[in-house]
Amino acid sequence: ARVGKGNFRHFMLKEIYEQPAVIGDTLQRYVNPLARTIEMPALPFDFATLPRLTIVACGTAYLAGMVAKYWFEQIARVPVELDIASEFRYREAPLPKGGATMVISQSGETIDTLAALRYAKSQGQKILSVLNVPESTIARESDLVLPTLAGPEIGVASTKAFTTQLTVLACLAISAARARGAIDHKRETELSQALLEVPARAAEVLNHDESIRRIAYDIAETRDVLFLGRGTSYPIALEGALKLKEISYIHAEGYAAGEMKHGPIALIDENVPVVVVAPSDDLFEKTASNLQEVMARGGRVIFLSDHKGAKKLGGKAAITVALPQVDPFVAPILYAIPVQLLAYHAAVAKGTDVDQPRNLAKSVTVE
Ligand code: G6P
Repeated sequence: ARVGKGNFRHFMLKEIYEQPAVIGDTLQRYVNPLARTIEMPALPFDFATLPRLTIVACGTAYLAGMVAKYWFEQIARVPVELDIASEFRYREAPLPKGGATMVISQSGETIDTLAALRYAKSQGQKILSVLNVPESTIARESDLVLPTLAGPEIGVASTKAFTTQLTVLACLAISAARARGAIDHKRETELSQALLEVPARAAEVLNHDESIRRIAYDIAETRDVLFLGRGTSYPIALEGALKLKEISYIHAEGYAAGEMKHGPIALIDENVPVVVVAPSDDLFEKTASNLQEVMARGGRVIFLSDHKGAKKLGGKAAITVALPQVDPFVAPILYAIPVQLLAYHAAVAKGTDVDQPRNLAKSVTVE
C-alpha cells in the first residue's frame, strides 16, 4: 500500500511522531505485559554459553548497535565486539568458536552489512539479524530474524527504525541477562516495566517539540555544533550529530563527554552550540563537570536532561529541556527523539530537502 504523509509536512516528521505507536507495537511482540517478562523466539545459540557477540551495521543502525553494546555488557555481562560493516568486512577479524554475529539494518539490503554477515558466516558464526524489512536479502541469509515493527520508513534519515531497533535490542539484552543469570526476576520485571512505559513517555517527549523547534532555529544559524554524552548517551550524541549533518548540512560532531578535553574543547567559543545529552544516571555528575568546562569557555550549552537533572544544573545551561524521569536503562530510546527533532527543525529552517537529502540514499546497495 502507498504510504502518505497524512497531515505532516514531511515523512520524517510523521515518522518521528509515529514512534510512541511503533515502539508499542514492537514491545507487544517481545514483552509479556502481564508477567512483565521478555519473550524471545528460540535463538540459534545459547546466551548462557556465548563467548562473544559481534555486532555489525552501518549508519544509524550501527549507533543502535553501540547502545546495545553497553546494554549487553552492563546488564547481561556478554562480551561484545562492535564495528561498522564497511570496516568489519575487510578486517579479517578472528571470531570465537561458538560465537554469534548480530547485524542490524532497516532495509536488510545494505551491501556492506550483507558482506559482513557473509564473512561472519564463513567463520562459523550463527547469524541473528534485527531488521525492519523481513523479506530482504539479509533476512534470507540469517539464522534468525528479530523484526522491528516500525512499518515502512520513507524519510531517508532513519528515525522510527532506530528507536524500534533499540526496543528490540533492549528486550534481547534483558533475555540474555536472564539466560546468563546476570539479573534476577525482580530486576527483569523492573526493566520490562520501564520498557512498557516508553510509549507513554515518548509521547510526553513529543510535547517538547515547540521548544526544540525554537532551539533548532538558533542552531540553524551556526556553522558547527557539538553533541556530548557518556555511556548510552554517547551513541545518542553521535546520532544527534549524524542526523543534523545528514539533513541540515550543518557540521556536527558527536563526542564522548570525557574525551572532549582531548580535542574538541579547542573548538568551543560563544559561537558553538553544545548539545549535552544527560539523563540523571550514574554518570550524570561526570557529564555535569564536562558541561561546566564548556560553560567556562563561553560555550552555549543546550542541556537535554530530565526533571532531576534540570533541578541540579538547569540554571547553568543556556537552554534546558527537561524530559520525563525514566529508568536510565531506557533513556537512550527517549533521548533519541529530541535530537531527531532538533535536526528536523534545523533542516526546515534552512529550507533543505528533509526527506531526500542531497547525496544520500535510503538504502545503500553499492560499496
Ligand atoms: C543509509 C541511510 C541511513 C541508514 C544506513 C543503514 O545511509 O541513509 O539512514 O542508517 O543507510 O541502512 P540500513 O537499511 O542497513 O539500516
